[in-house]
Amino acid sequence: PLVITDQSSMRKWSRTVRHRQGLTLALVPTMGYLHRGHIALIEEARKHADAIVVSIYVNPGQFAPSEDLSTYPRDFPGDLEKLRVLGCVNAVFCPRDLYDYRDAGSRGGRRDEGGVAARSCVEERECGHETWVRVERLEKGLCGKSRPVFFRGVATVVCKLFHVVEPDVAVFGKKDYQQWRIIQRMVRDLDFDLRIIGSEIVREDDGLAMSSRNVNLTPEERQKALSISRSLSMAKHAAENGEHGCQILKDSVIRAIEEAGGRIDYAEIVEQDTLEAATEIRSPVVFCVAAWFGKVRLIDNMEIDS
Ligand code: PAJ
Repeated sequence: PLVITDQSSMRKWSRTVRHRQGLTLALVPTMGYLHRGHIALIEEARKHADAIVVSIYVNPGQFAPSEDLSTYPRDFPGDLEKLRVLGCVNAVFCPRDLYDYRDAGSRGGRRDEGGVAARSCVEERECGHETWVRVERLEKGLCGKSRPVFFRGVATVVCKLFHVVEPDVAVFGKKDYQQWRIIQRMVRDLDFDLRIIGSEIVREDDGLAMSSRNVNLTPEERQKALSISRSLSMAKHAAENGEHGCQILKDSVIRAIEEAGGRIDYAEIVEQDTLEAATEIRSPVVFCVAAWFGKVRLIDNMEIDS
């Protein structure tokens, strides 16, 4: 694929493809370290557009200072090779930086050797950026509770990517269910002229939801982390066989994960569209879990269509 590293070349390429060649364009935003979950999004994108752009950008704006920006796994040559073998990706957009460090003063613009921003961009002083997109209600619950600036960073960078790439369609994984809903809502509220597609979760053979962060698990932690998907599918099965009490279902999942040695961040059953907490399963819900195994925070979810 063509590798594009700056915003103006990206926009120019997109406009040529869409306006001059009359093709529809899909964007698949990622932070790289690509796995089969990402590849499934690209396969999904093929169904909805003629040409595909994959963006690879580890967004400093969505990491709090205490979070794992510096240990977030990166392998650009490996990613590029995977996309080349796949064959259907037309361009890879890997901006050196999407934030402006020029006004940042003495604290800004720090880079590690890879040229990536070494510091979180959460405090406005760290970079010249001060405009943020907030999806106020949807960003509050679930992951928003323990990561209060996370979705502001996600919504903002995705908004920037949409403006630069100008896609007709963008594909997001349901693995990050709240993120998918937030982006859908942002597109609706801010009149973006594009369609958001939600793509199903891809799992390892043993059920673990694929994630770039899984490589940071020890083999022992990885084994214990199976308690998440196993307890979720047991709860889904119970719900589908008549257990409609959310507290009972949540307790069973919390107990299973804690017994395996995980530390629960949250286990919640919420309405699929509004993400409001449910007390009884009467409408389509999604059971969302976040839990720590060692230094790694994992998320997973399962939809239950009552
Ligand atoms: P990243 O974690 O790299 O994920 C990129 C996309 O892949 C997201 O839409 C995510 O939901 C999807 N994805 C990851 N693992 C998946 C799995 N096992 N099954 C299905 N889809 C999966 O999410 C981000 O990056 C960032 O927040 C981003 C949207 C790029 C903004 O910076």
